Amino acid sequence: MILNHFDLDITNFGARETISKRSLADLKCAMCNTLIEFIYKLTWLFEIFLKGYYQMKHILVTGGAGFIGSHFVRYMLEKYPDYAINMLDKLTYAGNLSNLSDVQECYGPLERYHFFQGDICDPTSVKEAMQGCEYVLNFAAESHVDRSLEHPGHFIMTDVYGTYVLLEQARKEHIERFVQISTDEVYGEILSGNAGEDANVIPRSPYSASKAGGEFIAQAYFVTYGLPVIITRGSNNFGPFQHPRSLFRFS
Ligand SMILES: NC(=O)c1ccc[n+]([C@@H]2O[C@H](COP(=O)([O-])OP(=O)(O)OC[C@H]3O[C@@H](n4cnc5c(N)ncnc54)[C@H](O)[C@@H]3O)[C@@H](O)[C@H]2O)c1
Repeated sequence: MILNHFDLDITNFGARETISKRSLADLKCAMCNTLIEFIYKLTWLFEIFLKGYYQMKHILVTGGAGFIGSHFVRYMLEKYPDYAINMLDKLTYAGNLSNLSDVQECYGPLERYHFFQGDICDPTSVKEAMQGCEYVLNFAAESHVDRSLEHPGHFIMTDVYGTYVLLEQARKEHIERFVQISTDEVYGEILSGNAGEDANVIPRSPYSASKAGGEFIAQAYFVTYGLPVIITRGSNNFGPFQHPRSLFRFS
């Protein structure tokens, strides 16, 4: 049907036109109009692309070069095309950018994934990475229990002070949701049964104590400043990209 209609148009065009100076001028003019129309459509498409980009929701994910954070970043970008991620990581011994090399390759050029190397304890790095974001998920932590026995101060700095720096910037940026990734280790030892959300928090290592500290600051920002905070207390995970130190306990 469409082809027939097109043939008919071409035939009509051939029959109507004779080669003269006048028709050449008309042809040039028609080509000019087509070019202008083409440029106009290109601008229009570019505008749609830009609008799409700016309507995207932006998430700041901290600690995305680590085990769980890297899975989260990949999952979000694959599943939700209208989300873009700023990933902030200090790249400690536990962080490895190769955990996300496929993500960088696939989503970096689409401007849906940006990596910022920095410390969550540094307000300038945090400000830069959080700019334009609606949501924050704080995976960044010193997370290996055994190391917390050797270097408790590092854990308090990152897990407590770093969480405070993020919360403070989130308050200034009017972040719509702040998710603090905590751990079931804050409950301490549960010898029988299970622990509900309102069970006592009795941390037993510098790691769990510093995670509890981060939680309490987050809770305080929710109550005091109305910052929309959610706290998760996941239990132990294992899988690809996990640092061997976290998989096996050495003490
Ligand atoms: N792995 C588990 O089984 C488990 C269970 C429950 C909760 N969690 C929590 O989940 C989160 C992620 O755990 P994981 O096992 O993926 O940890 P991980 O140690 O594999 O990754 C932590 C990431 O945070 C980064 N980081 C550390 N300090 C930083 C700082 N000061 N600034 C910026 N980045 C920093 C590291 O470079 C690394 O990429 C942690 O908050 C942890 O407490 C983990």
